[in-house]
Amino acid sequence: MNEGNMDWIERAQRVFTPNYRPAPIALERGEGVWLVDVEGQRYLDMISGIAVSSLGHGHPALVQAIQRQVGLLLHTSNIYWNCPSIRLAELLVRESFAHRVFLCNSGTEANEAAIKLARRSAYDRGEVLRTQVLTFTGSFHGRTYGALAATAQPKYHQGFGPMPEGFAYLPYGDLQAAREAIGANTAAVLVEPIQGEGGVNVAPEGFLAGLRALTLERGALLIFDEVQVGIGRTGRRFAYEHEGVIPDVMTLAKGLGGGLPIGALLASDTVAASLTPGTHGTTFGGNPVACAAAEVVLETVWKPEFLSRVTALGDQLRDGLNRLNQDLSVFDEVRGRGLIAGAQLRAGLPFSASDVVNACRMEGVLTHVAGPSVLRLAPPLIIDAEELEVALAAIRRAVSKLVP
Ligand SMILES: Cc1ncc(COP(=O)(O)O)c(C=O)c1O
Repeated sequence: MNEGNMDWIERAQRVFTPNYRPAPIALERGEGVWLVDVEGQRYLDMISGIAVSSLGHGHPALVQAIQRQVGLLLHTSNIYWNCPSIRLAELLVRESFAHRVFLCNSGTEANEAAIKLARRSAYDRGEVLRTQVLTFTGSFHGRTYGALAATAQPKYHQGFGPMPEGFAYLPYGDLQAAREAIGANTAAVLVEPIQGEGGVNVAPEGFLAGLRALTLERGALLIFDEVQVGIGRTGRRFAYEHEGVIPDVMTLAKGLGGGLPIGALLASDTVAASLTPGTHGTTFGGNPVACAAAEVVLETVWKPEFLSRVTALGDQLRDGLNRLNQDLSVFDEVRGRGLIAGAQLRAGLPFSASDVVNACRMEGVLTHVAGPSVLRLAPPLIIDAEELEVALAAIRRAVSKLVP
C-alpha cells in the first residue's frame, strides 16, 4: 500500500529532533511553480522553500547542469581548484561591487565569515579593540553562534547563552541611534536591506545611505546580509542596487543555488585581503554541483528582461493583496519589493498569520509567516501573471473563510 502524508509524518516524528513544525504534507515532486505531495495533491508554491527555489521546480536548464556536473565531478574540497566554482565567482564579481568571493554552504555560514572578516580586517589594521558588531532589532542572520548573536531577536537566544561577546543591537531604521552607537570599537554594521524573517521590512529611504556615510566616517565596515533578498528577488540583481549604496561585504545564500545549498561572501579587495591562507575555510565550500547550479540561476535571473518581469510581477502581487484588503480589511500594510511581499495583519483579528498560511494550504497555495502577524510570500521568480492570479484568488478565498 502506498504511504500517505500521515504515514510519512508519523515516521518522521519518530526519528527527527522536534525543532521544526512542518505543515502536515510530505512533498514528493515539483513542476514549475507547482509542488505535489505523496497523495498527488498539487499546491501552488508561493514561498519557494523560503526564497530559495528561484527557478521553480524541475527547471530544465538547472536540472541538466546539475545532472551533467554530478556525472563529471561531485567534490574536490578546497585543496584543489574546480571549474564551476571559478566560473561562479567570476560571475559574482562581474555583476557586483565585489572583487573577491568566499564560497560556503548556507546563509549562517556566510554571515559567520563576514563577522570573522570584519574583526580580522580591523586586527590587521592594528585596531585590535575594534571588535564590536552592530546589528538591528528584528534582524535574522542565522543559527550558529556568531550569526545567532548577531540576530537581534531574544526568542532565538533564549536558553542558548552565553552568547559570544561583542554584539550590540539598534532599532532598525533609526539613523540617529546608529550615529550615537558607531564608534572607535565598531568593526562592522551588519544589516539586511530588507528584513525577511523580521516581517519583510524594507529599510526606510536614506537609512542604508546614512549607515554607509557613518561607517566610512568612523572606520567600520558595512555588511549587507542579502541572504534572503539578493539574486533577483527584488527585481534587481542585488537589493542594494535600489538605493545605490555599496557595502564593503555582502552575504548571499538561499536563491543563489536555486535549491542546492550554497552561500557566498562577497567583499572588496582591500577587506578580502585579510582572509589570508589558513584564516578561514570549509570543506564543502565551492562544491562543483552547487556552483554549477548557481551559474544557471545567475545566467537566467540576471537577464534585464527577467528582472523587469520580477518587478512587474511584484507590483501585481502587492496590488492583488491591496485589492483583497480593500474588500476584507485584514491587513495594516502590504510591504515588499519585487517578488517578496509581507502582509501585516491588523491587530485584534481573531486569527494569526499561521492560521492564514494553513487556510491558504487548504486552498492549494503554500505560503509562510514572517513572525506571528505577517503573511510572507516569495514565489519562484519564474511565476507568470496568470499563476499569480490563481494564487491571489486562493489567498482571497482562504482569508474570506477566516474573517468573522
Ligand atoms: C537574512 C538572512 N540571513 C541569514 C539567514 C540564515 O541562512 P541559512 O538558513 O541558510 O543558514 C537567513 C535565513 O532565513 C536570512 O533570511
